[in-house]
Amino acid sequence: MKMNHNFSNIAQSYLFSTVAKKVADYTAAHPDKKVIRLGIGDVTLPLPQVAIDAMHAAVDEQSKQETFHGYGPEQGYDFLKESIQAYYAMRDTKLELDEIFVSDGAKSDVGNILDLFDKDNTVLVPDPVYPVYVDTNVMGGRKIAYMNANESNGFLPLPDPSVKADIIYLCSPNNPTGAAYDRASLKAWVDYALANDAIILYDAAYECFVSEDVPRSIYEIEGAKDCAIEFCSFSKTAGFTGTRCGYTIVPVQLEREGMNLNKMWLRRQTTKFNGVAYIVQRGAAAIFSEEGVKQVQEHLDYYRENARILAEAMDELGIWYTGGKNSPYIWLKCPNGMESWEFFDYLLENANVVGTPGAGFGENGKNFFRLTAFGDRENTIEAVARIKKLLS
Ligand code: MLT
Repeated sequence: MKMNHNFSNIAQSYLFSTVAKKVADYTAAHPDKKVIRLGIGDVTLPLPQVAIDAMHAAVDEQSKQETFHGYGPEQGYDFLKESIQAYYAMRDTKLELDEIFVSDGAKSDVGNILDLFDKDNTVLVPDPVYPVYVDTNVMGGRKIAYMNANESNGFLPLPDPSVKADIIYLCSPNNPTGAAYDRASLKAWVDYALANDAIILYDAAYECFVSEDVPRSIYEIEGAKDCAIEFCSFSKTAGFTGTRCGYTIVPVQLEREGMNLNKMWLRRQTTKFNGVAYIVQRGAAAIFSEEGVKQVQEHLDYYRENARILAEAMDELGIWYTGGKNSPYIWLKCPNGMESWEFFDYLLENANVVGTPGAGFGENGKNFFRLTAFGDRENTIEAVARIKKLLS
């Protein structure tokens, strides 16, 4: 028996599990305290009513022989893929239906896509970074090169021509920093990938929060279909964190070493995945209806207002931060030179507010801290009042 010893090279527990454990220990020891959780980016509003209605109707369909659905297409039903195609077309991005693969979320796909690549590739990730990109590659035994994201580049690193990478992870608007690449910067990444025969794995899970003139899809950049795979999710758009649905775009023209990545991904998915539940796909498709778009906008506006409230507090306290405009995350510099886990404990113990320590996202996050705008309004206002009282 030979085990995968690469698991010895990752932290024993996943970042958000560690945070959850610390909070559980604290609440068990202090049952009288009202702890406000602005840590993990989990939504608090219920699903849009259109999704609920569509799922109820789909449940009824499953109860009758004439309308029952068994196994569906592994890559998703056409009714949902057509809605996704139209969503991109509204932004002048043309997708073939065969380029869209519906899944149970971006996190799974971001990890699973590595089946397509040899172990012997160099992976380039920004630091700080969503830990899934790093941990999945370490589990697979791949070499990782880091690029510095910091205050001086606004947490938006650009390609360094002296570094040779094969797989590049970009997330914009970024988790955890909330910073978003503009067109010229993304074009620099696409040019770099094309010049290096590399593939960009582009995480667009937060595109729905874009409110400024920055790209929402990497395919808005010329040449991207020859070098990029895009991951997206209904989690943040429509509150599907617990319902699970997302999609990945693999261009039909994307090839390396004579192998077609779209065909490989189709083969991989049909082999290892039986598709997302029919009921869930009906719920996801409903959010693209006229009424669905309206309801989703109301949800996004609610979280945007939370982000504004958090950002305003940082402004008042004179704390440096990024994010909050095109993103539900505020990435702030820990006050008084504190390190992020120290600030985590300080905030938990003295304000009973939970955030995510920047160190959990990488070395460059060690003096930073992430707050999420996905809390409910009342709690966000109360958290802000407690933070202001503690830090003024
Ligand atoms: C986060 O808090 O970074 C996200 O909720 C994690 C995720 O989407 O998996």
